[in-house]
Amino acid sequence: MIKLIDQLYSDNDLNEKELLYLLNNLDQESRNYLMKKAHETRMAHYGDAVYMRGLIELSNYCKRNCVYCGIRTTNNKAERYRLSLDQILQCCEIGYNLGYRTFVLQGGEDDYFSDDKIVNMIKSIKDKYADCAITLSLGEKSYESYKKYYDAGADRYLLRHETASKKLYKSLHPGMRLENRIQCLSDLKSIGYQVGSGFLVGLPNQRNEDYVKDLLFLKDLNPHMVGIGPFIPHEHTPLKDADKGTVEMTTTLIGIVRLLLPKVLLPATTALGSIDPLGREKGIQFGANVVMPNLSPTNVREKYALYDGKICTGDEAAECRQCIEGRINRAGFSINMSRGDHKDWSEV
Ligand code: 5AD
Ligand code: FES
Repeated sequence: MIKLIDQLYSDNDLNEKELLYLLNNLDQESRNYLMKKAHETRMAHYGDAVYMRGLIELSNYCKRNCVYCGIRTTNNKAERYRLSLDQILQCCEIGYNLGYRTFVLQGGEDDYFSDDKIVNMIKSIKDKYADCAITLSLGEKSYESYKKYYDAGADRYLLRHETASKKLYKSLHPGMRLENRIQCLSDLKSIGYQVGSGFLVGLPNQRNEDYVKDLLFLKDLNPHMVGIGPFIPHEHTPLKDADKGTVEMTTTLIGIVRLLLPKVLLPATTALGSIDPLGREKGIQFGANVVMPNLSPTNVREKYALYDGKICTGDEAAECRQCIEGRINRAGFSINMSRGDHKDWSEV
């Protein structure tokens, strides 16, 4: 097992059979070794920096009906909200004053936010905060829409593939197609965005064979960012009684992705921090180097409930900033408030 991890560390690659063998046979000793190698790899490329991104949750209206998600369209218990442009700009101002230089604008697939509104929002933020990066996370759109946002000044786009298993994808995303998701990711890349993808861990019926598909898909896509988080049930979804993903499986996969894509920006996700009080710290120890503290107004935080037990819903932006800095320092790392572009990314 150690030999296989060494091979992954030096080649940044393993084939399907080897990846499956690794996942099926990882014991405590080899997991520790994986952590050590993932740590070495992040230190070589990014040092002990953990990049901070301010997350603004624009809207919890969503036309999609992903079976696991708390803001799915048929959840009529969800209390819906949208932020106004003024509210969004206020979040940016608070974030900017706290030192953030990346804003992540995330929301459900909400057609109220037309392309014109999104373009106007991007331009308004860039007008005031030209030294900040804008990351969008607004779901599947056409090439033309993505291009408009990019031309308006958006720098990055997050769109997890969610799961690369066709069968699982189909069962969890009514009316959606994995091929279309992959097309979106390819469009985003060709337009020039720094692109983030990623997947859920611990979905019902998800097996090691499925994770191998996720890993091979990511290796092939070669994105700039990869978000990996445990599935956590939400009480008002069909998966309410399902088991959640584990910290062990999630951190193992984070470690493997660090070795497959050595320079990738890899968040320790809020979902990971929500299933274990030290979840994000454990992710960072396995090679994660990004955190995304919340900048949304506190009165909407609970409403953006993708899953139960989400952390930070009661904390002001300044409190999250403080809290996460302390956590990162105590884990032996240091925060970095810069734009934090991917290593191979050159500004034009
Ligand atoms: N548990 C964990 N993550 C979830 N997401 C949506 N619902 C859940 C859930 N129940 C994730 C999806 C999406 C991201 C914004 O949140 O992977 O891409
Ligand atoms: Fe939000 Fe700790 S990061 S309270």
